[in-house]
Amino acid sequence: MAKAEPPAPSKAVKQDDSGKYVDAKGDPTFNVKPDGAVDWYTYSGFRRYHSECHVCHGPDGEGSTYAPALKESVKGINYAEFYGIVVGGRQNLSGGENKVMPALGDNKNVMCYVDDIYVYLRARSGDSIPRGRPASHEEKSPKATEAEHACLGDQN
Ligand code: HEC
Repeated sequence: MAKAEPPAPSKAVKQDDSGKYVDAKGDPTFNVKPDGAVDWYTYSGFRRYHSECHVCHGPDGEGSTYAPALKESVKGINYAEFYGIVVGGRQNLSGGENKVMPALGDNKNVMCYVDDIYVYLRARSGDSIPRGRPASHEEKSPKATEAEHACLGDQN
């Protein structure tokens, strides 16, 4: 398999009207204000990561004996690869190990927040934010709320 392009540096170059920051390649990334406040998606990603990924990947993206430290993984795999693994899952059968990354593409509680989780993990990689719940964060934008409802398919 050809080696995919590595991700761009995680530095944010701009913020879109949903409050999401992007890197030089246009992929989602985090932003931390001088006072330590994180962007909305980093905060949301913290919550979603700990409800959907933590059980296998350990707290704060640090990894476990079962599954890799995703704060390290996102240094090497780009956004498209990350997305693809979350949607389709992966199974490592080498060395007699039977470790399974489940395919989560049908799970809206994951897929509606996949950018949030990715952004959070980028913030954890390189320890741009400490372990634990971010102490303060930017407000959620009306566009982010709209996109979330559209994705979840709520009527409200
Ligand atoms: C049931 C346990 C389980 C859950 C839940 C889980 N994973 Fe995984 N994940 C794994 C295992 C095990 C691997 C390693 C698979 C392999 O080696 O092929 C893995 C691998 C990955 C990888 C590839 C990492 C690398 O370094 O190559 C990514 C990315 C990933 N998971 C993202 C996620 C995200 C995001 C979530 C939450 C939305 C999640 N996983 C939830 C078990 C899990």
